[in-house]
Amino acid sequence: MPPDSIAGALLAARRRLALISDTAALDARLLLQATANVSHEDIIAEPERRLSAEALAQFEAFMTRRLAHEPVSRILGARDFYGRSFRLTPDVLDPRPDTETLIDAALALIRPRSRLLDLGTGSGIIAVTLLAERPDTTGLATDLSPEALAIARSNAERHGVLSRLQLRQGSWFAPVSGSFDLILCNPPYIPASDIPGLAADVRDYDPLAALTGGPDGLEAYRAIARHAAAHLNPDGHVLVEIGAGQADDVSALFAAAGFRNVKRFQDLGGHDRCLSLRLG
Ligand SMILES: C[S@@+](CC[C@H](N)C(=O)[O-])C[C@H]1O[C@@H](n2cnc3c(N)ncnc32)[C@H](O)[C@@H]1O
Repeated sequence: MPPDSIAGALLAARRRLALISDTAALDARLLLQATANVSHEDIIAEPERRLSAEALAQFEAFMTRRLAHEPVSRILGARDFYGRSFRLTPDVLDPRPDTETLIDAALALIRPRSRLLDLGTGSGIIAVTLLAERPDTTGLATDLSPEALAIARSNAERHGVLSRLQLRQGSWFAPVSGSFDLILCNPPYIPASDIPGLAADVRDYDPLAALTGGPDGLEAYRAIARHAAAHLNPDGHVLVEIGAGQADDVSALFAAAGFRNVKRFQDLGGHDRCLSLRLG
């Protein structure tokens, strides 16, 4: 199999990527498809097709980045989430499939013409997905990072929901006015001391402000619990994503702020991944 054929290039790439990735075959295919304008069907139907020198050079450039642990989604500048493609830059968290648990929980709670608040929106996946799934909803999305808000705006435009989404910069509730039926947040929740031990794919590529939740990982929940009640409509819900083992601590923080009726939602791995909370 010639090394400059589709199959030859893929095989060599797969072997090199296996040293650093559990998904070497998938990584190699996605990177080749992005460089050489080769579709998945081409890979199956024409494995012996020769690649141009230009395509091979670009593929090698992508491989160098991946071998330095840069995630495929960052190299491609895009990530699929809940069936839609989202633009991704170094300014925003690479959206995680686990956050789809929060989307499923939210969709079960949203009533007609609900108004949503997405705190720490990052690339906008939560607000944009929910507004796209429920065309009669409106929302406000915030983030501390103006660069993240610019990405969220472009993703809202890409998915046709920008006319129903306001974007505001500031810390948690500081830029928020009015009240909402559903307040959502996937906050930074990793204890600061765990950051150095994270996999390089995460530690070196996700923005630190999107990862660290202060010394115990709970700082954002404290800030949100303190102000959420003042911005919640009667019968409204707060829905937060949580990290491993945080369900009890986060429930207690919200209970101290008057929230009851805690429900836990599990991700596909069976771990508690988000909590819904109501007042009273
Ligand atoms: C874990 S990321 C989640 C991003 C996105 N919602 C998602 O699920 O992919 C947390 C986000 O909170 C933002 N953030 C961090 N501290 C903040 C603060 N004090 N106020 C508002 N947003 C903050 C970060 O910039 C980041 O975009």
